[in-house]
Amino acid sequence: MKAIAVIPGKADSVHLAELPMPHLEDVADGRGVLVKVLRVGLDGTDREINAAEYGAAPPGYDFLVTGHESFGVVEQVGPKVTELAPGDYVVAKVRRPGSSIYDVIGTPDMTTDEEYQEHGINLVHGFLTENYVDAPENIVRVPGGLREVGVLVEPLSIAEKGVFQAYEIQRRLRVWQPKIAAVLGAGTIGLLATLVLRLQGLDVVTLALQEPPYLNSDLVEAIGARYLSTRSMSLAEASAKYGPFDLMFEATGFSPLVFEAMGVLGKNGVLVLSSVTGGDRKVEVPADALNLGFVLGNKVMVGTVNAARVHYEAAARDLAMAESQYPGWLPRLLTHPVKGLDNYQQAFELLTGGERPIKIFVEVAPLD
Ligand code: BGC
Ligand code: ZN
Repeated sequence: MKAIAVIPGKADSVHLAELPMPHLEDVADGRGVLVKVLRVGLDGTDREINAAEYGAAPPGYDFLVTGHESFGVVEQVGPKVTELAPGDYVVAKVRRPGSSIYDVIGTPDMTTDEEYQEHGINLVHGFLTENYVDAPENIVRVPGGLREVGVLVEPLSIAEKGVFQAYEIQRRLRVWQPKIAAVLGAGTIGLLATLVLRLQGLDVVTLALQEPPYLNSDLVEAIGARYLSTRSMSLAEASAKYGPFDLMFEATGFSPLVFEAMGVLGKNGVLVLSSVTGGDRKVEVPADALNLGFVLGNKVMVGTVNAARVHYEAAARDLAMAESQYPGWLPRLLTHPVKGLDNYQQAFELLTGGERPIKIFVEVAPLD
């Protein structure tokens, strides 16, 4: 079957490859689930992998099949599978369990293993292909009524985990009643974090570089959040006017902003960092003032990566919430469909082009 692969370490090596058709028996004990891939979303991680900045091939291969934001339909299940049935719509989890205690308890997103496996990213093939087989433990069901937007589950799971982490951490405060949040960045993750926080009932200010109006600022405003361009208002000014922020979610990919965010975070507040920044940017920071503010204000900053099963499940539920509370909003994120695996070059060109599409996705097979 066809697959879209890169040669890790070799820039612009994306190409059409061939994989053997997987079988139910590839998973032991009758626990195999055969899934037909319908759609696969692409993001900055795919761009970095094709730029040879990131990613590793599975052992025994010199190529890596890319694509980690999957959406598919179950075609067959092994005799010992009770959780899923043919016809179910599903999303595959990205990270495979490793060996640390966190992996063993079902939270590989919190692994302390040196080497972790991520489908389409690190050491295991991804989903830009026609079919895959996996165990039900690694697959999450999505209601069929959400199939038009199901490809958003994986990126939404990243936003869900970040917000979950904030709430978990804030249990240290016997009472935490966050009222106002700031989201830094209005790319895919910034928009989805804005959505999750709005669905939680928070007032949200989303800040990004570009001056409104444009699609992303329209989308922020369409769900009752406030869009601000940092070209006309600094983070400090925004905080003075709308803050102090109880929760801040950083998703710009520009690491110096983290320190600005630290400087304006409200007392008892929590700052969530989600940008994967592979560079080596350096900045000078007001170290004493930042430290003092954190100490005297009992503030927390936390990093978040990947997502556990609960976050995928929350993402599936929030897709339904979003469709009923803000009908038609999620489909507006699906800006750049690409027809078929054969058009992979178009998909990767969109990834590297000047435009910043909200979501590029390959329509591997028709939804119905
Ligand atoms: C993926 C995550 C992954 C992270 C780091 C992101 O693009 O969505 O699942 O953990 O990259 O590799
Ligand atoms: Zn991703």
